[in-house]
Amino acid sequence: MILERRNLMNFKKIGDHFKPALDAPDVAELQKLAQLYQLSQAGANEIGTKLENLDAEFQVNHDHNPIHHMEERMKDVQSLVQKLARKNLALSIDNVQDHIFDVAGIRVVTNYIADVYLIEKLLLKQTDVTLIRRKDYIKTPKPSGYRSLHIVVAVPVFQAQGSQAVNVEIQIRTVGMDMWASLEHKLRYKTDMDAKLVEQYGNDLQGYANELAQIETKMQHIYQQLNDFAK
Ligand code: GTP
Ligand code: MG
Repeated sequence: MILERRNLMNFKKIGDHFKPALDAPDVAELQKLAQLYQLSQAGANEIGTKLENLDAEFQVNHDHNPIHHMEERMKDVQSLVQKLARKNLALSIDNVQDHIFDVAGIRVVTNYIADVYLIEKLLLKQTDVTLIRRKDYIKTPKPSGYRSLHIVVAVPVFQAQGSQAVNVEIQIRTVGMDMWASLEHKLRYKTDMDAKLVEQYGNDLQGYANELAQIETKMQHIYQQLNDFAK
């Protein structure tokens, strides 16, 4: 067994990250932020394990892996500070808890569109998982063409002091949607690129998002047919 020791940010390191953004760094507040990061990481671990177990069960029972792969990330302190500023909120533990739902984020990349909703359904069926927020950008894509299902769930984490509900943001999307989003993200963050080209490629990508959606639906159909024949 390999024991992976994650590089958890300790109180001091988090403090150093937040200090430049604070007028008068409050030690108690910094400590609470470090604890929130640790709790959020624990919440992501809980959800990650649940998702791995669901995928394994499908592999055994249905010879199908709904999950292609997963990625997990903790929001870096810099983006957290920027996000609060964008929302015109002061940097405080209460504001993070009440307004930032994606300190811990898991991206679940599935093989087919139906798997996106299957994963969602099976996860939300679990009695210790509570849905907090849901945005279905597959049903209603963003103007850019972006497609994904975003849910925020609360999951209990058992700490020395007892159990605490922790929010975890889960983005569920197919391999096709994921490929599209990575490329489009690259385009949007290329600041040194000609504005005309950005617009041109943006329009192209918007069109490709539709084409991808059609192809994915057709491929899902073939997959379904093959499954039915095999029965
Ligand atoms: P915040 O409170 O700012 O998170 O707003 P929100 O949760 O309403 O944002 P949203 O639901 O749009 O999700 C934000 C995340 O979705 C981003 O961090 C990206 O990962 C992804 N995302 C949203 N829109 C796009 C898009 O147009 N292109 C790409 N590539 N990714 C997007
Ligand atoms: Mg978000």
